[in-house]
This record gives sequence, C-alpha cells and structure tokens, in this order.
Amino acid sequence: GAGMKVILDTDPGIDDALAFILLKAMPEISLQAITVTHGNTTVEKCTTNALKLVELLGMRDVPVAMGATEPLVKTLSVAEETHGDTGLGHAVLPNPTTTIVESNAANLIIDIVNANPGEITILCIGPVTNLALALLKDPTLRKKIKNVVSMAGTIHYPGNATPSSEYNVFCDPESFDILLRSGIDLTIVPLDVTYQCLFTKAHIERLAGAREDVCNFIDRSTAFYMEFHAEYQGIQGCAINDPLAAAILVKPDLVKMRDYYVDIELHGEFTTAKISADHFNASGKAPNAKVAMEVDVDAFMDFFIERVKTL
Ligand code: RIB
Ligand code: CA
Repeated sequence: GAGMKVILDTDPGIDDALAFILLKAMPEISLQAITVTHGNTTVEKCTTNALKLVELLGMRDVPVAMGATEPLVKTLSVAEETHGDTGLGHAVLPNPTTTIVESNAANLIIDIVNANPGEITILCIGPVTNLALALLKDPTLRKKIKNVVSMAGTIHYPGNATPSSEYNVFCDPESFDILLRSGIDLTIVPLDVTYQCLFTKAHIERLAGAREDVCNFIDRSTAFYMEFHAEYQGIQGCAINDPLAAAILVKPDLVKMRDYYVDIELHGEFTTAKISADHFNASGKAPNAKVAMEVDVDAFMDFFIERVKTL
C-alpha cells in the first residue's frame, strides 16, 4: 500500500542527514516531499545538502522545495560550529544534478495537504518556519493535516542553544508558538529523549557490512558532529536527535509520551524560546501536545543500525 504519507521538513544538517538515511530504510513511509528550511546553515546550503542526500539515497522521485530563508521575526542563526560550513560536517557528496521544484516549501505543503486531506504527517526536524507560513497562508490547513511530529524543545534537559532553549525552537520561536496554538495533533520529541541517544564510533563499527557509501557518509559527517559534542558539551558521541523523531513514526513504542499543555516564552530576558510543559496542570488548560519524555535507547540504536543495514 501507499503507507504513511509523510512530508519531511528539514535543515540538513548532520543529524537531519541520518534521518534521511533512516527514512529511506523505512518502507512503511511514503515520502511525499522534502521541504527545506534555514537552520543549521543557510536555506541555500541546506537545499543543496537535501539534493545531495536525495541522490545518495535514490530518492529522486521525491520533490524537494526550498523554503524560508529566515525566521518569521528573528534574524537568522545558523549553527556551522555544530554542522560545519557545508552543513554536513566532513562528509563530501557529489554536486547534485537534480533540481528543486517550482513551488516554495510553504506552497508545496499547502498543495500536498489539500490534495490529501487527513492523510499527511509532517515530520519537522528543523525550525518550523515553513509550516508556520503554510498555516498562515491557508487557515484551513490546520484541520487537514493528520499530525505533526516535531524534534523540538527541551523540558527538563539543558538547552543546546541557550541554557533553557533548544536550537530548532530558538531559531524561530514565533513559528513554534503558531504550531503550539494551531490545534494540530502535535508530538514533540525534545532533547530530554534525544540527548540520551548518543551515536558513537562503536555504533559505526556495528554498521560494518552495510552499504559502503552510506557508511562512509555517516562516518565522515558524524566525525565532525562528535568533535562538536566533545569540545562544546563534554559529551562522548553525538546526539542523533532527528533520526529518533523519524523512528517513532513507525516504532512509537520506542518512547513514552505524556499529554501536556505546552507553552513557549517569547519575551523572556534569559528564557526566550524556552518551552514549558504543564506537568501538574497548574494552568488548567487542555493538553496541546504529546511529549516524548522517556526513550528505550538500546531499542532505538538497534532499530537505526538494523534498518541502515537493509539499504
Ligand atoms: O537541537 C537539535 C536540532 O537542531 C536538530 O534538528 C539539529 O539538526 C538542529 O537542527
Ligand atoms: Ca535538524
């Protein structure tokens, strides 16, 4: 069958690239489009990276659309210390021959959702500017999107962009606020679970025998990412945030969800872009998100490695 229809919204990005690889190894998913956003690097570089990955993985049948060059309100904040100046660390891929589609990302999201009402899952693994723009341009969209899974935010774990905010939300907090208020079935995959999923050289060794070009890409891209984690965060290995958000599409039992009312600080002095989950329901407000608060790390790493070996 067609499988789960998914739009991937992404800022590739080293861990985004690992999510591309995992999605290719998830036949349960029918990837309808890849929409690219500013984030880990400029939208132009992220788009080139998306086209390079599409060619590495044989996804040329998936339309790629370039999206927002900058956040809704804030100025652009790229993370080239984390992902390198290309956005893919030390990995080198051939220059792409495929091109992007005419539509920009927001319009492609609008067109695909309107053509498949109630059927589209949007997997957001970068700042959510494209989705926010689509929701603003077509107010009927929020009722037609099946659900959104967003790698975003942090609840109890320290922020990786500021002491209290996670990078994707930090890049464009106003867009994330629009998503939180949209009424869409929203699953949030925060740093609380993704930073438990530390990919190491031992995991790379377990990939022995898998497709050599993919393994080489994983080794070269994560080598840079591991250097960042060691130097900036004193962490051995690298947090593979985005692949966890992809994995739960087909293996939701990898995580334990909690229904929370989640809000966001837009005007803090030190806490702008912090999201808060109302654990004790102090606000009395109904939940607006399912938040992954626990993860079976070994089961996820096994899943990732097993699936990559099927390529
Ligand atoms: O905070 C982690 C998130 O920010 C990941 O999606 C990573 O790719 C960066 O975009
Ligand atoms: Ca990302």
